[in-house]
Amino acid sequence: MSAEDRDLLIAAAWLHDIGYAPELRDTGFHPLDGARYLETQGAPSRLVRLVAHHSGAVYEAEQRGLIDELAVYEREDSPVLDALIYADMTTGPAGQSFDFDHRIDEILKRYEPGSEVHNAISKARPYLGEAVQRVRGRLG
Ligand SMILES: [Fe+2]
Repeated sequence: MSAEDRDLLIAAAWLHDIGYAPELRDTGFHPLDGARYLETQGAPSRLVRLVAHHSGAVYEAEQRGLIDELAVYEREDSPVLDALIYADMTTGPAGQSFDFDHRIDEILKRYEPGSEVHNAISKARPYLGEAVQRVRGRLG
């Protein structure tokens, strides 16, 4: 990945969950709230779009009826988005290292079956797993 993409990835990794901040809460869907906030702050478009689409956000947008709102931000299917997914999906809530299946199971345990997040992560699992596999392949 280019030096520019590495910087972008690191910025996205730091900022991807900024939409959880209570003062930024609008729709309650953190990828969208975070992206909208970053846009108001003049963040680069690719950074805004990576935050909007981190970790299979489209699956949760479907659950929440926010597909049109999320679609304002085009998803780049790229090694950068894959690496952002990889970082999120192999790290636990306290920063611990998790393998992919452990991480997905940990998320599913935290949310009620039938809830938006539980449904979304269940549906997103193959998509997220493919991104993780692509990164493992690139890492050799
Ligand atoms: Fe997130």
